[in-house]
This record gives sequence, C-alpha cells and structure tokens, in this order.
Amino acid sequence: MKTRITRSERIAAGYIRKGDIAAFPTETVYGLGADALSDRAVRKIFRAKGRPHDNPLIVHIAARDQLSLLASSLPRAARLLIDRFFPGPLTVIVRKTKSVPAAVTAGLPTVAIRMPDHPVARKFLKLCGRPVAAPSANRSGHPSPTTWHAVETDLGGRIPCILRGGRSRVGLESTVVDCTAARPVILRTGAIPVEQLRKMIPSIRIHTENRSRRVKSPGMKYRHYAPAADVVIVRSPGEVRDPRNAAYIGIDRPRMKFRRTLVCRSSASYGHRLYAFFRLCDREGIPVIYCQQVASKGLGTAVMDRLRRAAHR
Ligand code: TXA
Ligand code: MG
Repeated sequence: MKTRITRSERIAAGYIRKGDIAAFPTETVYGLGADALSDRAVRKIFRAKGRPHDNPLIVHIAARDQLSLLASSLPRAARLLIDRFFPGPLTVIVRKTKSVPAAVTAGLPTVAIRMPDHPVARKFLKLCGRPVAAPSANRSGHPSPTTWHAVETDLGGRIPCILRGGRSRVGLESTVVDCTAARPVILRTGAIPVEQLRKMIPSIRIHTENRSRRVKSPGMKYRHYAPAADVVIVRSPGEVRDPRNAAYIGIDRPRMKFRRTLVCRSSASYGHRLYAFFRLCDREGIPVIYCQQVASKGLGTAVMDRLRRAAHR
C-alpha cells in the first residue's frame, strides 16, 4: 500500500469518512484514527499496528456535543475534569453507550474519551464529522511517534494516509483517568500532572501498577513505549561503567563520552524529547540507553512511568 503524506486536514478526513484509517498529529503524540462508530474501520487500526485486541482505544472528539454519542452517563468527576481540561491532554473513562463497538473498548462496558488541543487535530476531527478512535500511531510496543516522520518509519506502507504536522508539543501521552468508580483512578500518568488533577479532585488516586514495576496486571503483559535498545535506569550518569557503546539521556551532564548524549533542562523537556531520542538511538544501532531517573513530580511522574515500562523485559 502506498502511504499518502498530506498537509490537508480535508484529504486526511476523507479517509476516515470512507471507513479507512489515517494518522494525525496531536499535542501529545501522533494518533492512528478510524471512525469510532464503525467496527470494520476500527479493526483496521489493530491490523496496521499489530495491536493486541484486548487493549482498548481512546475516542477523540472535536466538540462537547459528541459526548452524548459515546457516554451513557457523566459522573461528577468526569464533568469536573471535562470542564477544566477539555480540550487538552486528558482522557476520561466513563460508561459507554450501545453505539460504541466492542472492538473500540476491547469488550469493556466503558469508553475512553479525549478532546485534543492541537489546531490541526481539531480541524481534522471537525471535518471527520464523527468521533475518531485512535491509539498512538506506532507499531505495537514501540515508542509513541512525536513526528510524522516517526509515523512513516513505523507504519509507512501499512496505512493509506499520514496528516503531516509539526513535532508534538508535549511528547508524552495523555493522562488517563477512570471516572467510573466512586474514587477516580489515574490509570496512566501523562501530560497533565497528578498535582493538577488533585487540585480538582482531592480523592483521586494512582493505579498501583504505575508505582511498582513488580506488580503484574493485564496492562503490563506487554512491553510498552520501548526502543529496540536495552533501557537502564540510573540515579546519576556517574554510575555507568562503560559509556563507549551506549547512549545517555538525563538532567545531569555526564563527565564521560557516550555515543549519544542528551541533557535536558527539566522533566518537561525530558518528556518532550524522550521518544525521539529512543528512536534516534535505534536508528544508530546503539544497544544500551542509560536514562537518569527524575523526581516523581510534575511531568517527572509520567517520565518515570515510561522509563520503567521501557526498561521492563
Ligand atoms: O495522548 C494520547 O492519549 C494518544 C493520542 C493519540 O491521543 N493516544 C494514546 O492511545 O496514547 P494508546 O492506545 O496508545 O493508549 C490508550 C491507553 C491504553 O493504555 C489503554 O489500555 C487505555 O488507554 N484505555 C483505553 N480505553 C480504556 C478503557 N475503556 N478502560 C481502561 N483503559 C482504557
Ligand atoms: Mg500507544
């Protein structure tokens, strides 16, 4: 299949409207979209990515009035979060309507919903004229793509269209909050820091799988967000014995010479550049990437979550 690369939201939306799939930029990472209300269209996403069918998708909307198509009810926590963070890099999980096909939610009675805050994504979603189911636009298991080029590397020849935009502003995926329980749960830390959510919902808690790498649960069956290289988390660059055939990313500048070094000025910048750095190291065939740990606050919480998952074999 030839992959058409376009800057036209209208052309890309045309693929979704005719029941096909297309990749598009968002402020978090690039997504691979399909008509969320079409079982046939959504199945194409799983095929192109090689995604396990038990991993549900996030449904993207352009406007609030699409919520009622998807959500059978909006609990108070969901309403609070939607008012405060839509459009933006937050995903809420609520009970689904009958219109949402089982393929989207992996058979769950709930659906994940997000309204991106990216001018190209918003225009594209509006032109699609329906909710769009979209996981990150990478081959299953790989780091999420933060450039259209990374999408092409992973899915070129496997999808009909890539809507071209710039580099994703955040570079880490949305924060996912399950609002169906009395006490809302953060299932995936991400672009909206926990501290901000806690201000809105003081009782919110983080799903324990995010805290400890030892806990095995269904979502941890798969290695995620991972480069081909081995990822090793270090407290400081001084811990590394042999840097010659390795790469380093972190906040502190190492004294030794690595094959590739990326020093970031903050956790936000670390998160913004992490996936592109993983991909660069893979292109250069670097076998080990040493990643400095960061404090678990602000975007650092999501950075640490992704590093642990990438390091998990
Ligand atoms: O920033 C993002 O969220 C990006 C952009 C494209 O919007 N999307 C993204 O999608 O990261 P994906 O498929 O790579 O990750 C979706 C996450 C998965 O961990 C999935 O298990 C979870 O959301 N999820 C989706 N629906 C769910 C549901 N009904 N219940 C629990 N978890 C759900
Ligand atoms: Mg993904």
